[in-house]
Amino acid sequence: MLPDTSLRRISVDGVRVDRDGRAILFDMSVELDSARIAVIGANGSGKSTFARLLNGLVEPTAGRVSVHGLDVARERSAIRRRVGFVFTDPQAQILMPTPAEDLALSLRGRSREEIAERVSSVLAEHGLTETADAPASALSGGQRQLLALASVLITEPALVVADEPTTLLDLRNARRIGDLLLAQPAQLVLVTHDLELASRCDIGVLFDEGRLIAVGEARDVVSRYRRMCG
Ligand SMILES: Nc1ncnc2c1ncn2[C@@H]1O[C@H](COP(=O)(O)OP(=O)(O)O)[C@@H](O)[C@H]1O
Ligand SMILES: [Mg+2]
Repeated sequence: MLPDTSLRRISVDGVRVDRDGRAILFDMSVELDSARIAVIGANGSGKSTFARLLNGLVEPTAGRVSVHGLDVARERSAIRRRVGFVFTDPQAQILMPTPAEDLALSLRGRSREEIAERVSSVLAEHGLTETADAPASALSGGQRQLLALASVLITEPALVVADEPTTLLDLRNARRIGDLLLAQPAQLVLVTHDLELASRCDIGVLFDEGRLIAVGEARDVVSRYRRMCG
């Protein structure tokens, strides 16, 4: 765990995001320094837009976002090293023909020995050793998401942003990915419709129609969302 909350501060200051001449995220300001942050809200409420602001995939039309003291707009390469992003569909993330090559790609630039050692230990850690050199296309949906997550975690990011990482998975695999995300050592921003999983985070943030409408104890924010949904 990161020892000092100031080292894991996510700061969103007066941010608006416009698309096609209208705001999709309105005047958002918040400071978050909890270890595990759940992001919840209806479809189209702005969750993915918020998640993508944190690694620069989306740029604010107005305002400023900083992560761990780094300005996301200005310090792009430092942000890329520090922030790992897990997508809903692991296919978006698996770039190489086999799991071993995909994990190795995440470590490009390191020594051959270090890569070989880290790749085999991460494959073993996630029960993927048997599939190391199999075509990634032969992996099950659960194994693919496991590989996508492993290829993010192998870089030891300081912040993991996961946008509905369990939505496409069956119950067993969803649990496994959820448990792994909560147990890994980096700060976590987890967008999810799994309200049980959201409740296990420290803090919840609730979006509604492009606005951040609640921040607080995850369980309380989940309760509020449940009440909103009637
Ligand atoms: N690139 C885009 N162009 C136009 N509208 C967009 C774009 N991205 C998102 N939106 C709109 O912004 C709103 C919020 O989207 P999003 O952040 O993806 O919501 P969520 O992840 O909560 O479902 C939605 O109405 C969506 O249609
Ligand atoms: Mg989304």
